[in-house]
Amino acid sequence: MSASWRRSGAIVALATATSCVHGTCSAQDATHGKTLYGFYCQTCHSPQPATMTAPFNLIMTAANNPAQILVAAATWPSQMGFIPTILSASDRADVAAYLGTFGGAPATVSVVEFYNRGQDHYFITAAPAEIADLDDGVHSGWARTGLSFAAYAQPTGGASPVCRFYIPPGLGDSHFYSASPAECAEVAATYPAFTYESPSVLYMAVPDAATGACAAGTTPVYRLWDARTDTNHRYTTSPSAKSAMQAAGWVPEGYGPAQVIMCAPT
Ligand code: HEC
Repeated sequence: MSASWRRSGAIVALATATSCVHGTCSAQDATHGKTLYGFYCQTCHSPQPATMTAPFNLIMTAANNPAQILVAAATWPSQMGFIPTILSASDRADVAAYLGTFGGAPATVSVVEFYNRGQDHYFITAAPAEIADLDDGVHSGWARTGLSFAAYAQPTGGASPVCRFYIPPGLGDSHFYSASPAECAEVAATYPAFTYESPSVLYMAVPDAATGACAAGTTPVYRLWDARTDTNHRYTTSPSAKSAMQAAGWVPEGYGPAQVIMCAPT
């Protein structure tokens, strides 16, 4: 696919047809963004990116969020490496504004927490089939803790894909989630014995890496590790649950002084 979009004719046509490719038009111009999208993105992401099949719908993480376009370009250079040299910051903001015109408020799902007393393990999931199986005792020993938090079900502006790994029985028999694509890649490389179940089971915002602050309209999610050979992680928005886990020897893993790992929509 990377060969076909690189038909140089399309790029020459755009360079001559519009005067603002190199940043002379105003930012946040969704109409201009639509033109750019048609030339540079639509080949792969389709005219209807919000309902495109995965992974092409992931472009919606850039809706009103131009920074994610650079992340995509850096992460998949063979397909999108051209973007930083061809589209200025203002062009990227226009494309992000155009993406923001699709759809209404993003749908959220509930991430439900379960606990297994025998294993002293926690598990979260938003998958209806998994929730039903746990509620129905298909996997014995699990019960709801009563805690839950929200997440986006689909790629959404400002949210990052959340990957999921299964840690095999000898190492923990539990699941690991991360909203940092870099951490997902690192875990996959470091622990080949883990099963990389999905790069995107959910979509969540990530906190400021330095301060751990979550953006307005989102609430901190904490991740605690049991620090045992049977590895297990608990994910919670409850500060009191976090404190209780720390008192029991679990180790918080996150950004900033409060160690926030991701941010849930409120
Ligand atoms: C040659 C095909 C191709 C073109 C052209 C292309 N993309 Fe992509 N893009 C992809 C693929 C493939 C993915 C999914 C990568 C993955 O997750 O495996 C993707 C994913 C993305 C993502 C999501 C990254 C994330 O994980 O959050 C963004 C944002 C994005 N593209 C922006 C753009 C923009 C903006 C343009 C046009 C300026 C563009 N892409 C043009 C192939 C393309």
